[in-house]
Amino acid sequence: MKVLTVVGNRPQFIKAAAVSGPLRQRAEEVLVHTGQHYDRELSAVFFEELGLRQPEHELGVGSGTHAEQTGETMVRLEPLVEAQGPDAMLVHGDTNATLAAALVAAKLLVPLVHIEAGMRSFDRRMPEEVNRVATDRLAGLLLCSTEGAVANLERHGLGERARLVGDVMADVALRFGPIADRRSRVLERFDLRPGGYLLATAHRAGSVDDPVSLTRLVALLGVAAERFGPLIFPVHPRTRARLRAAGLVDGLERVPGLELCEPLGYLDFACLVRGAGAVLTDSGGLQKEAYLAGVPCVTLREETEWVETVASGWNRLVGIDSGRALSALAELTGRRRDSKLDRSLYGDGKAGARCVDELLAWLS
Ligand code: UD1
Ligand code: UDP
Repeated sequence: MKVLTVVGNRPQFIKAAAVSGPLRQRAEEVLVHTGQHYDRELSAVFFEELGLRQPEHELGVGSGTHAEQTGETMVRLEPLVEAQGPDAMLVHGDTNATLAAALVAAKLLVPLVHIEAGMRSFDRRMPEEVNRVATDRLAGLLLCSTEGAVANLERHGLGERARLVGDVMADVALRFGPIADRRSRVLERFDLRPGGYLLATAHRAGSVDDPVSLTRLVALLGVAAERFGPLIFPVHPRTRARLRAAGLVDGLERVPGLELCEPLGYLDFACLVRGAGAVLTDSGGLQKEAYLAGVPCVTLREETEWVETVASGWNRLVGIDSGRALSALAELTGRRRDSKLDRSLYGDGKAGARCVDELLAWLS
């Protein structure tokens, strides 16, 4: 059995790290990296730290508009899939790499498996929402992280293809979190004490591409750092480019208590998440990781796909609004869950193996 997995960017390398190991024990995997993310700190570092095998093929697509990135990935992937003749293709999440691979699989009649299927923000202005909706329509097997995702698919008439397996990113967080605590020296690097700092990330197009949102984000991070800092802000390259273009980098760097840095590797970042008083983010992955670490999350969006974290009381949706963010931080910062984690929300750390079980059962 040959399975061709397509990944292209940071969260997908992390997700693939949970699936690739169990998959390679039971089938042949051909791992293809589209090249959507190419900087070392957004790509190579995850292969090294998480033990993910080097991709068998790299398409070198790089950056571009949505059409350029999606189209170029399809053009480069199609002949490779034809030459490889896989029994199935596997895609993760909701990025342009996901959609491009799903379209190639559908046109070449290769059975398609979608991991992290059924997530919805119900906001079609998000490119990721478009990618998810289309990929779920095209895939024959829809592997879901949560019961809510299964319910979303049922409402779309796709329930028969859906299976609840748990969240593969949670597998990695649960496995590598304690390793990060032991190995990382990031707290020393920034002179931080556990529980005594905030961690922020922001990279969604909706947050940083619009100059008005970007200015509000900068103001929000500034007041959060002054009131609750130190605040560590590893800056995604999209965000750095937008901040530079708007001339906002120098001002941010001068805010007392605010520390900008490069995107961090998985272990340093996980160590920072686990020790934070709270995190501020528009990232999907980080909302889950904060939940699993028992750390409060303040989400800089008006909606989330990870609705369980909000229902549990550990995640607040505040948009890009300084007032709402400050009151959420005042209420939640430093609060920690002492009780055992309710891991059932995102599975038991074995979602990757369950994905492989479902995939092989479906293909047999
Ligand atoms: C992409 C995904 C998003 C995901 C995110 C994870 C889509 C539509 N978006 O967004 O869903 O949450 O990855 O981080 O697929 N750049 C670099 N170096 C790199 C990669 C990108 O400098 O290695 C810069 C380029 O200027 C590029 C910009 O970042 O134009 C945006 O990159 P892109 O891959 O288009 O989207 P992301 O914002 O990373
Ligand atoms: N992450 C990381 N270093 C960073 C920022 C994020 O390793 O500097 C990890 C984070 O722990 C999570 C993943 O990247 O596992 C989330 O990716 P991202 O926020 O880029 O994408 P999203 O989850 O929003 O699609």
